[in-house]
Amino acid sequence: MSSENTTQENETTVEVMKNGPVLVYGKLHITHSDGTTETKDKTTAFCRCGASAKKPYCDGSHRKAGFEG
Ligand code: FES
Repeated sequence: MSSENTTQENETTVEVMKNGPVLVYGKLHITHSDGTTETKDKTTAFCRCGASAKKPYCDGSHRKAGFEG
């Protein structure tokens, strides 16, 4: 395996949605503020509007809150 391939495998793609969450693609190991941990696969949506009842994740509340940003 070349070093170029290794770099690509370790890349993380982050997408900021207009008026919505931050999407992070790939496998994530998350440590919460209470010390619990979990693993996420595929796409994880993190709240950036502050209205989610499932923080740090987006639960769609940004629409109801009229979040812009
Ligand atoms: S960004 Fe979706 S609930 Fe906050």
